[in-house]
Amino acid sequence: MSLENRVILITGAGSGLGRALAVAFARQGAHLFLLGRDQKRLEATDDLIRQAGGKAGLIPLDLETGLQRVPEVAKALFERFGRLDLLVNNAAITGPRTPMDAHCPAEWQAVFRVNLDAPFFLTRELLPLLRFSNAGVVIQVVCEEGVAVAPFRGAYGASKAALLHMTRTWAAEIASGPVRMHAVDPGPMATPLRARVFPGEDASRLPRPESVVSLFARLADPAFRGEHGQLLTPESFARKYSTDDS
Ligand SMILES: NC(=O)c1ccc[n+]([C@@H]2O[C@H](COP(=O)([O-])OP(=O)(O)OC[C@H]3O[C@@H](n4cnc5c(N)ncnc54)[C@H](OP(=O)(O)O)[C@@H]3O)[C@@H](O)[C@H]2O)c1
Repeated sequence: MSLENRVILITGAGSGLGRALAVAFARQGAHLFLLGRDQKRLEATDDLIRQAGGKAGLIPLDLETGLQRVPEVAKALFERFGRLDLLVNNAAITGPRTPMDAHCPAEWQAVFRVNLDAPFFLTRELLPLLRFSNAGVVIQVVCEEGVAVAPFRGAYGASKAALLHMTRTWAAEIASGPVRMHAVDPGPMATPLRARVFPGEDASRLPRPESVVSLFARLADPAFRGEHGQLLTPESFARKYSTDDS
């Protein structure tokens, strides 16, 4: 399996899972586009990629306020490579820890803007480019809160539930076409997001985001022939594909 010369865009690439994926994919020879709202954090990911011998383009973009710039991103990618092989909609915010009836509407909307509207707009604008790939893949990053009820994290859970539903619907609609779409719940990981949600937790006991990179790499591999439109976790993926991924 190799991602040599694959063209990959990852949102939220300045930290956590997004950074781990970007560095690992660059190490395998992919061309990375790192999208995030904080230029300095993107540059730090870029430094790690350079140290690993890879290369990346930076796309500083706030997905809460800057979605009107997404067509520009698609145009720039088209002009540079003429295609996109993998889009990972990874960026997310959790919003405040609060009961449903105390949610401030602006904070509620910000969570939906980043966690649902951004994956929708990016997927919609970049699908034509993914269709120019020989094996275009979209991975939407979801989480347990989008499936099971998590009191006081209602905006986060509802936005991820909607993202999962969007993914299943979209995957069904494009099933006969060339692009594959998956929802991945990476499970608990020691990242800044997790530390904000569970401030007292001992992060050293949690899996590191690097531990789930191989699942994403398998889905991105043009040779992967697994099911389309599924919700995958590291455990369900290992059960289904540990001996046979084709
Ligand atoms: N960590 C877990 O235990 C866990 C479990 C299940 C699922 N997940 C999912 O995994 C994904 C990655 O999260 P993570 O744990 O790696 O957390 P993280 O390190 O906080 O990563 C989230 C990224 O999204 C970026 N982001 C947030 N708002 C943005 C905006 N308005 N515009 C552009 N980028 C924005 C963040 O940028 P800043 O650095 O500027 O904030 C950050 O780089 C998320 O979709 C999350 O729901 C995580």
